[in-house]
Amino acid sequence: MTSNRRIIKAVIPAAGLGTRFLPATKAVPKEMLPVVDRPAIQYVVEEAVSAGLSEILMVTGRNKRPLEDHFDRSFELESALREKGDVAKLSRLDSPSSVANIHYLRQGDPRGLGHAVLRAASYVGDDPFAVLLGDDLIDARDDLLTRMTEVHGRHGGSVLALMEVSPDQISRYGCAAVTATGEDDVLRVTGLVEKPSPARAPSSYAVIGRYVLAPEVFTVLRRTGPGRGGEIQLTDALNEMCESGTAGPVHGVVFSGRRYDTGDPSDYLRAVVRLAWEREDLGPGFRAWLGEFVGSRTGLTAAPERLDAA
Ligand code: G1P
Repeated sequence: MTSNRRIIKAVIPAAGLGTRFLPATKAVPKEMLPVVDRPAIQYVVEEAVSAGLSEILMVTGRNKRPLEDHFDRSFELESALREKGDVAKLSRLDSPSSVANIHYLRQGDPRGLGHAVLRAASYVGDDPFAVLLGDDLIDARDDLLTRMTEVHGRHGGSVLALMEVSPDQISRYGCAAVTATGEDDVLRVTGLVEKPSPARAPSSYAVIGRYVLAPEVFTVLRRTGPGRGGEIQLTDALNEMCESGTAGPVHGVVFSGRRYDTGDPSDYLRAVVRLAWEREDLGPGFRAWLGEFVGSRTGLTAAPERLDAA
């Protein structure tokens, strides 16, 4: 079953409360936290755009207005910078929204990821579409979505992004039961469990936040009852699709590139350090400082109490 329907629509669920980042997220949406100098959500939108997804629906909630402001023009800022002739800063206002149409819809009741995706049903219609979770930041050089849409083009159905994780991590993710295909980085997904204990995990393959979905997922989501945590789980609907096969096969693309969970404070810090390190403009100065900093701290690790004093 191949699919020649080009995927142009992306759904970005962005209604989560970001409680792992309190108090920073009390008044600021977690998607707006800066990763170096861009809000986390901008990386996700840029990733969608560079994979050719030019129609984007963000499913938001209360307190998410800054997302709309961020992807809108800011005439005052633009004219102030133009008057000053500050071309460099002006170019930083270039927004992915100039090459994509970004739409917004409120989730209403916070009933889980499956419910957020279901809210996109009338926007998406009858075509396959992509879902990008805002907490997952995929390095722009590791072109996961393009690989997924290419696999979808050959197999149809749905395509998930999978990543191998250690047993102690699997309960943080949806976990896939899989069988091999002829391709190293493509697996057939035969079942899914949301956040299993290590003992009940069918494999070490975790579902990460990129999906290419058959539109039949909406029909299944409509009848999916609350699952883990009392929420309507996308994983449960996809599991039903794996079992019935009526919406085409479900495949997984195994991702081994760079991914950060920017909703998790320590992974967020790793993303900031790594991306700053690699930046052409900030990188050289930052690398020199970080090298010295780590060098000075490493010398102190034998006597941790001295770190507090330092
Ligand atoms: C969601 C999904 C889960 C998936 C994860 C990826 O969980 O429910 O299946 O593995 O995203 O980041 P959440 O992190 O929203 O709890």
